Amino acid sequence: MKTIVSTFEMQKFSEQARLRKKNIGLVPTMGYLHKGHLSLIAKAQRSCDVVITSIFVNPAQFSPNEDFARYPRNIEQDTQLCTSAGSTVLFVPPENEMYPEGYSTYVNVERLSSILEGKFRPTHFRGVTTVVAKLFSLTKPHKAFFGQKDAQQCVVIKKMVKDLNLGVEVVTAPIVREKDGLAMSSRNVYLSAEERSQALILYASLRRAHEMVDNGERNVAVVAGEVKQMIETKSSATIDYVAVVDAESLADIPSFERGIPALVALAVRFGSTRLIDNTIIKAR
Ligand code: PAJ
Repeated sequence: MKTIVSTFEMQKFSEQARLRKKNIGLVPTMGYLHKGHLSLIAKAQRSCDVVITSIFVNPAQFSPNEDFARYPRNIEQDTQLCTSAGSTVLFVPPENEMYPEGYSTYVNVERLSSILEGKFRPTHFRGVTTVVAKLFSLTKPHKAFFGQKDAQQCVVIKKMVKDLNLGVEVVTAPIVREKDGLAMSSRNVYLSAEERSQALILYASLRRAHEMVDNGERNVAVVAGEVKQMIETKSSATIDYVAVVDAESLADIPSFERGIPALVALAVRFGSTRLIDNTIIKAR
């Protein structure tokens, strides 16, 4: 595997690869890689000749009171994991090349960026779409791979690609979980043993939502209410939101409708660690 640091070198590499008719896949990450990230690399490898994994802890998507400075980093371990997962290139751009002094251009997907996560993290998606647009122009991918773990991020990025005619195919991949159901996240290392065990309620409550809809419950408020109640039984949990929305448009829906995918999405803080999780439910 080749490591590229310079943004200029990255563009040159991708231009060459395109000239040689190589199919380029991009897996954007912030590092501290786990099996969720590696599943995206493996998926990219199955349909692309060249897989570029980027690692960049993007300051633009963290607000001043968030965890940018303490976000976990381990580039040696990430390099090893990327190599064994089959990445062709590891792209690790420096912050001063991504956002040089005087940087002033941002991409903002309106509306979709200000609901759900956006209500609690108002500048977050503007940072995500800006950096992803930059990564696209640096790596020139045919396809880019994103995890369903960040369901709203997938929807926002697909909208950006469509609105800006970026010509990148956005491919999504399922949530990878620990054996006990906790969705893998670089942030899980922040959890104390007690918080981690209480956080298992998230997956349990999402499974309960499936069960309720399977048993015929169609009322969104009833299902969301039960999910909230389950989470509230945990002493270290503080709910930011539990929402049920149309999985494609993220619009509010009053009821589960047969055959139409609904997204049950939640954000819950355990102590100072904020976790997100979700599931898609299609009523039968
Ligand atoms: P990061 O949180 O590092 O995640 C990188 C990619 O891995 C995202 O597409 C995310 O959805 C996916 N991912 C994370 N945990 C996962 C899991 N348990 N199962 C499946 N996929 C998972 O998301 C970001 O970084 C950033 O916002 C980024 C897109 C890189 C822009 O800075």
